[in-house]
Amino acid sequence: MNFKNNAIALITGAGGREELEELRVKYLGRKGEINRMLAEIPKMAAEEKTGAGEAINDLKRVIEEAISAKGGEILSVGDSGWTDLTAPGIDPGLGNVHPVTKAVDEITGIFEKIGFTRVRYPTVDWDWYPFGAVNMEHDHPARDEFETFFVDAPAHPKLGKMVLTPHTSNGQVREMERVGSPPIRMLNIAPCFRRQQDVTHLVSFIQFEGLVVDKGISIAHLKGVIDYFAGEFYGPGAKSRLRPFHFQFTEPSLEVDFSCPNCKGTGKIIGGDRCRFCKSGWHEVGGAGMVHPAVLRNGGIDPEKYTGFAFGWGVERTYAMKPGVKIDDIRLLNSTDLRVLKQ
Ligand code: DAH
Repeated sequence: MNFKNNAIALITGAGGREELEELRVKYLGRKGEINRMLAEIPKMAAEEKTGAGEAINDLKRVIEEAISAKGGEILSVGDSGWTDLTAPGIDPGLGNVHPVTKAVDEITGIFEKIGFTRVRYPTVDWDWYPFGAVNMEHDHPARDEFETFFVDAPAHPKLGKMVLTPHTSNGQVREMERVGSPPIRMLNIAPCFRRQQDVTHLVSFIQFEGLVVDKGISIAHLKGVIDYFAGEFYGPGAKSRLRPFHFQFTEPSLEVDFSCPNCKGTGKIIGGDRCRFCKSGWHEVGGAGMVHPAVLRNGGIDPEKYTGFAFGWGVERTYAMKPGVKIDDIRLLNSTDLRVLKQ
């Protein structure tokens, strides 16, 4: 067998990674066969030199190719040269549902149990639905709070410009138009967008909005539904508190607080120190109120016959307060940090 065939036979017959590496060093290493041959060239007669250089380089290329082909084979088959079908597989790592998706599913389940229907409305909507329809006509100062992104698209002659919805209240009149006449029990969960970002606010966040319209609906129903939600989401004993506020789309309007799940609404923890998570036992979560007659009229519903309540707040913030969830900056929820996402 000549030198080249011998080398190739040894390489293709290598029993594993280590043996192949030994052969690589033997042929291609600094003190290997190829370099030894190249070192002979200067000693050769002039007419032999050119041919020898070429032949050695060819040989070197063939050996390199054989080694790399064998290396690939060993990687796919394993060192032993045969495939062990009973060997344990490579763990692909299990994914999990994003915590915010889990919260959305849980919130949906809680409201569906008491007869709400989950709906979806456009997140890029005409100005009318998030503003005009909910009693904030053009240039109304209340719009300032909604730090809205406008879309660079032609305006609709009646419904106005296109916006990224800054709140899920755009679903209120859309739902009245869809259902036609009460009863209405809507749950609208959707992404919202505002020009804002800090530890408790995101540029893109998810809100959920409830709307109930029927004969004889009162603020007592609102309080009952919110307390029911608090107990289901935060656990037995969680309480809500309603404070007077102002929104254009409700009259009267309220802000909703939940008792802090960490200190159970006391503002203190065992040992007497102040709770780190809340201001004196309560968390502010969102807004609510009795639907303004103008909003009912915009949805084609007679406010003399029907009344309703509505509420709306952010999923991320509501979720960040849940016992056992450790998130002190809600921007983390939009990050790719697995320590947060695996919670
Ligand atoms: N849309 C309000 C916001 O984003 C929250 C809200 C307040 C919704 C009162 C309601 C409501 O339905 O009745 O700030």
